[in-house]
This record gives sequence, C-alpha cells and structure tokens, in this order.
Amino acid sequence: MSTLPGQNVQVLRVGHKGDGETAEGMFVPFTLAGEEVAISTGEDGSYAVEVVKPSPDRVKPACRHFGTCGACQLQHMAPRAYLDWKREQVIIALAQRGLDGIQVEPTIAIAPGTRRRAVLSARRIRERVVIGFQERGGHFINDMQECPVLHPLLMALVPKLQLALEPELPERGQAELALTLTDSGVDAAFGIPGAKLDREQRARLAILADRLRFARLTVNEELVHQSAPPMMAWGRGQVALPPASFLQATREAEVVMQGHVTADVGKARKVADLFSGCGAFTLPLAEAHAVSAFDSEEGAIAALSQALRGMQGIKPATAERRDLFRRPLLKHELDAFDAVVIDPPRAGARAQAEQLAKSKVARIAAVSCNPATFSRDARILVDGGYRLRVVRPIDQFLWSAHVELTALFERD
Ligand SMILES: C[S@@+](CC[C@H](N)C(=O)[O-])C[C@H]1O[C@@H](n2cnc3c(N)ncnc32)[C@H](O)[C@@H]1O
Repeated sequence: MSTLPGQNVQVLRVGHKGDGETAEGMFVPFTLAGEEVAISTGEDGSYAVEVVKPSPDRVKPACRHFGTCGACQLQHMAPRAYLDWKREQVIIALAQRGLDGIQVEPTIAIAPGTRRRAVLSARRIRERVVIGFQERGGHFINDMQECPVLHPLLMALVPKLQLALEPELPERGQAELALTLTDSGVDAAFGIPGAKLDREQRARLAILADRLRFARLTVNEELVHQSAPPMMAWGRGQVALPPASFLQATREAEVVMQGHVTADVGKARKVADLFSGCGAFTLPLAEAHAVSAFDSEEGAIAALSQALRGMQGIKPATAERRDLFRRPLLKHELDAFDAVVIDPPRAGARAQAEQLAKSKVARIAAVSCNPATFSRDARILVDGGYRLRVVRPIDQFLWSAHVELTALFERD
C-alpha cells in the first residue's frame, strides 16, 4: 500500500448516499465536509483512506462495528451536524424540483435502541453461526457483538439464535432472519434456503421459538409456531399483523408521524388513507373521522378490516384492497373526501399524485421515506394548485442516509 503523491483530496460535502464527495467527483465513505483525506492505493486495487485534517464535526462512532457493518454510515458525524445534514437532503431534493423556500423544520431525532424490525443474515462457519447485518460492500456477514440501533430485546436474541441455529444450518449454510418486535412478542420469519422442513426439523424449530418466547415463527413462509398472534395497538384498535407485513421501523417515529397526520387532517369529516398498510394511521383517525383505507396487500387489508370491526364507537371506516399505482383513486372519487393521508413506498405515488392534483381535496397529509420521490410528487401537487405548507424530516433510520418525512399540502 502506498500513498501516491497528489492523492490528498478535499471533501466538499456529504452526498445524498452518505459518502463524502470531492471536487474531482470521488465518493469517499466515512468522511465529512471540509476534511482533507489521503488516499493510498494498493497493487491489488484496494485503497485506504486516512483523514489528514478532520472536521470539527467528527466524533467517535457509537458502535465497534462502524465501518465494517453495512447498516450504519454516519456515526462519525456529530449529532447536530448529522440532523442538519438530513434536513439539508430534503431541501436539496425539493430544490431539484424547483420547490425552493419551503418551510423545512429541524429534523426530529429518534433515540438509539428503538429499531423494532430488522432483517439479519446468519451463516454457519465451522462450529459457529455468525449473525449480523451484511458487511459494507462485501458478501460477508458482520459478526455482531452489539448494535446501538436495534431495540435491546432484539439484540438480546442474537447470541441465543447463534446457539439455537447451529443444528439447523449445514457448514456454510445461510439463513435470513426477519425479526419484528410487536406488542405481543417477537414475530420471526426465517428464510432457510434448501430447508426441507420435515417433521423433526419443524418440531425443533417450534421448540426454539417457544424457548425464545416468539409470538410467531414462520420458516420459508410456513407457520411453525404461534403462541399469540403478533398484535399492534393503534389508537383504540388492535391489529393482528399478517406475516411479512409492513411496520414502521420504530414505534417512536410512528408516534411522531401519527401526531403529524392527525394534526394535518384537521377537522376533516371524511378522510382517505392511501397506502394504509395495516392501519397505523387509519385506526387512530377512525375515532374522529370517517376513514376509507386503501392498500394493495390483501393480508394487510384483511387484518385492518377485522380490527375495524372490533372497535366500538368509531366513525364509519372501511378498508379496500386496491393497487394505487395501476388504479389510483380518480378525481371524482377523491372529491368525496375532505382530507387525504398518503404514505407510499419508496417509489412514491406519481399516478395518485396526478389524480390528487386535479381534485378538490382540501388537505393532504403526506408521509414519505424517500425525499426524491416525495419531491417529484410534491411538484405535481403544487402544479395542481396545492401549497406545500411544511415539511418535517424525521430521523427514523438512525445513522443511515435514509430520511423519513411528513408534510402538509393545502388547497389555496
Ligand atoms: C410506507 S408503507 C405505509 C403503511 C402504513 N401507512 C403504515 O404507516 O404502517 C407503504 C404501503 O404501501 C403499500 N403498497 C405498495 N405498493 C402499493 C400499490 N401499488 N398500491 C397500493 N398500496 C401499495 C404497501 O403494502 C405498504 O403497506
């Protein structure tokens, strides 16, 4: 490894994917704006980065795995600078669509140790099972000893799963472990390629699930154990989550979003909840508004309908399966609502935004996990006569480059 002359570079900014960006257009991971870094290249094409002049915003990362584990990218940035960077990403995405001068609030921080769902990888290497997130840029699994992002109840499962999965994985055998912390316990979904799931293995896995007090375990989408339906309470409603259903990554961010959505629909009598999932917004809203929920997932809509049927004294509420990319609610359907909640997946909701732009809906409470598609759709709404009143970044995806946000649009 040698440092080539002239290889010191200046980092101008941290780009939207979380890597430092130089004037030469190089992306240098784990660097910060204003830093000078020396890049040494090895004969095998590998390279190492040494920070020659660190930024005053550089801090000691919270986790020993930072730099190796592929899950976190921004632990080396001081908290204030980090939250400002997330806000800046929203402002940049809006400006790229010509939406300048929008009120973008300071990023709302979400505490470490609150991530309630994670997909971990497991691989048996000789006598041990290694469990963790994928390493950065590689095919290896980070042998996770700690994770300041995960909820402690999920982190506590890791060493137990390492032992319990030993008999289930052959040498170099792999598994994917999706863990979700629900109100009634952990909902685990394992993917074990090639597992035959004969009676013996199913029985062993059921015992494992029982010992680890899982509410439910599915393996390769087959139900292996259920001590209690995995439940979530939203408002006065209780939903039994179907396997693999969407759930916001942290309860803390979800509560913030519920607060914003409730405030943003205001006194609307009739509300449409588009991309409702299992009803994290529908159920609290149904206490004060007539709500029509729409989502493409059959399981989510069935679970939400059942939860609505079990609620006493709410306003009229329905849940309907509908693909809103292919069949968005049309202008004449939208005009029946006073407010719309919209929380699409990362791809955004272009077709739905185009219909909303033609509608008379007075208020739109938007939620998004992707500032780029949010801004694209916001442009459509603004061109249709909506005013984008406020955008509020939320740090739901701690120490990653992802930004969650809520926003309010109003018809002038
Ligand atoms: C970001 S989640 C929001 C879910 C819910 N609002 C919540 O907070 O739990 C996006 C939702 O969009 C749904 N979805 C994805 N593609 C869709 C489509 N083409 N039409 C309707 N819903 C879709 C997913 O099933 C998922 O429930």
